[in-house]
Amino acid sequence: MSEKILIGSDHGGFLLKQYIIKQLASEGYEYQDYGCYDQNSVDYPDIIHPLASDINNGKAKMGIIMCGSGNGVAMVANKYKNVRAALCWDATQTALTRQHNNANILSMPGRFIDFDRAWEMVKVFISTEFEGGRHLQRVEKIGKTL
Ligand code: RB5
Repeated sequence: MSEKILIGSDHGGFLLKQYIIKQLASEGYEYQDYGCYDQNSVDYPDIIHPLASDINNGKAKMGIIMCGSGNGVAMVANKYKNVRAALCWDATQTALTRQHNNANILSMPGRFIDFDRAWEMVKVFISTEFEGGRHLQRVEKIGKTL
């Protein structure tokens, strides 16, 4: 499995995505940009379905997604069985969703957090391990519907 980080946004998250890409590149991370590629209005499902599908199929382990609120992109990503996308606003939430939920996609609200905070969150997301233990059976139950 590739260690490449998949990244995508709509126009609401575009500027934040570009900043995160610049930071990833400067620290030598491999990434794949799923768009969008400018600030023109797009429909976030068109960007996020391909990215989430690639995580779902095991082509990569981690994704970072943004829209204005972080909600729309997370909703799309969470349609996929093997995706656990977490909408986070700070580094503590981000650490917790890796430790407890084994989140594999970080969703951020591009219109509500500043770039420095977002980059701190990305670094925490990449470097924090799932704790397993009592959290494992809970995570395994996420995909079970009634
Ligand atoms: C776009 O205006 C906005 O609706 C979108 O970025 C996102 O916040 C949707 O959830």
